[in-house]
Amino acid sequence: MTTIADPRSPRTSVRRSGPNLEKWGWIYMRVSGVVLVVLIFGHLFINLMVGEGIHGLDFAFIAGKFATPFWQWWDVAMLWLALIHGANGMRTIVNDYVLNERTRKVLVWALWLSAGFLIVLGTLVVFTFDPCLGVENSTTEWLIEMCAAQ
Ligand code: HEM
Repeated sequence: MTTIADPRSPRTSVRRSGPNLEKWGWIYMRVSGVVLVVLIFGHLFINLMVGEGIHGLDFAFIAGKFATPFWQWWDVAMLWLALIHGANGMRTIVNDYVLNERTRKVLVWALWLSAGFLIVLGTLVVFTFDPCLGVENSTTEWLIEMCAAQ
């Protein structure tokens, strides 16, 4: 059996004034967890089970979803909630186990920077997605016709 060692550097950032960020982080993990269950299972159900299921999952399917504000917001909510949840969860683990203060700071910064970068990139992709971009190089008939009609 594998046993995970107890945290070696339990770091308590007790604030004497202002909001208790650790408490709000703790609450965020629970609330986002519940919302993510709905978003992730809804996502899997629609993408993999409805209609033709996984066999219908192709460029046209995704292009259709990204043309619909409802699915754009669904996916963006999933992206933001999951990335902040994942980064905050990893921050907890880093704070619990990384002994060297400098290394800890570098890792926590790297976590937020990478999460922030992916959030910006993903949000831009969802809201600026254009299926006709580069269509002149495409050989897919329906796509060429659809874009020509626009
Ligand atoms: C199905 C939806 C999810 C639920 C219900 C959920 C729930 C939770 C909860 C309640 C915690 C806090 C645990 C604690 O403080 O002891 C947690 C921690 C964590 N979650 Fe999630 N989560 C979900 C999805 C995700 C996703 C998509 C990611 C990655 C992007 C993720 C990464 C993490 C990490 C890294 C931690 C920290 C683990 C630790 O403290 O040991 N979770 N999750």
